[in-house]
Amino acid sequence: MSAGALPEGGFAAALPARPLPPDGRRLQVDTQAGDIWVERLAGAALADRLEELAVLRLAVLGEFPYLYPGSAAYEERYLSGLGSLPGGLILAAFDRSRMVAAVTGAPLDQELDTLRDPFAHAGRDLRSIFYFGEVVVLPSHRGRGIGTALLETGESHIRETDRFTSAAFGEIVRSADHPRRPKTYRTPDAAWRRLGYRLEPEIGGTLSWCDAGDREETAKPLRFWVKSLATDIGA
Ligand SMILES: CC(C)(COP(=O)(O)OP(=O)(O)OC[C@H]1O[C@@H](n2cnc3c(N)ncnc32)[C@H](O)[C@@H]1OP(=O)(O)O)[C@@H](O)C(=O)NCCC(=O)NCCS
Repeated sequence: MSAGALPEGGFAAALPARPLPPDGRRLQVDTQAGDIWVERLAGAALADRLEELAVLRLAVLGEFPYLYPGSAAYEERYLSGLGSLPGGLILAAFDRSRMVAAVTGAPLDQELDTLRDPFAHAGRDLRSIFYFGEVVVLPSHRGRGIGTALLETGESHIRETDRFTSAAFGEIVRSADHPRRPKTYRTPDAAWRRLGYRLEPEIGGTLSWCDAGDREETAKPLRFWVKSLATDIGA
């Protein structure tokens, strides 16, 4: 499936319906969102949902601000690797039997050099930081608290390990007048702040890929959000 075009209505029809995950937990979201279930995907549950997860991620990552073309083969390799990585985390949210959102993450010391290096240069202890990769929510389900509730569920999983003192994630910085920025685009910054994440101006990096529709790879500036897990109030 092409990552650039988001099949809003077609997404649900693209894959067969599956039974609800047996170990799913109800996600604490606005009642307006209806019943949303979350399940940690690993082992057989991940194998069973791998294609659905790859399609969901490719659809959202193909949009602004990522504009990341990706490929199903790469996604499936990446997600299988993450599923078997000690400390790797994949949570998926379901509306009835359909996957509508997901978050991935791994210990920062297991991440790409391009993500580790900015923290190492800022003198941070990589072993104590859990790094969330991407939070992705289908457009049809945005603005109902699912993305932030998934991130909070991820935090509760990592708190249980007793290993991490902070959680972090990177954000692609796109210019305010980027030609492909949708007029309706809303930045989630205020929501990250409400969850206790703070921008760390002294930690900065870049990630490179060829934007969907472009011919050449370009470097995208990254800024990082960090939350102390010591308290719920944040860093
Ligand atoms: C960002 C994202 C994960 C948030 O998930 P969500 O389920 O919509 O999040 P919530 O309902 O918990 O709301 C969080 C914020 O998302 C923002 N948001 C982004 N798109 C939105 C939409 N279509 N409708 C409503 N809010 C939206 C809002 O600013 C909201 O903050 P607010 O409560 O202060 O208004 C989701 O919108 C998404 O997948 N977006 C595409 C990818 C992206 O932009 N990622 C951010 C890169 S850091």
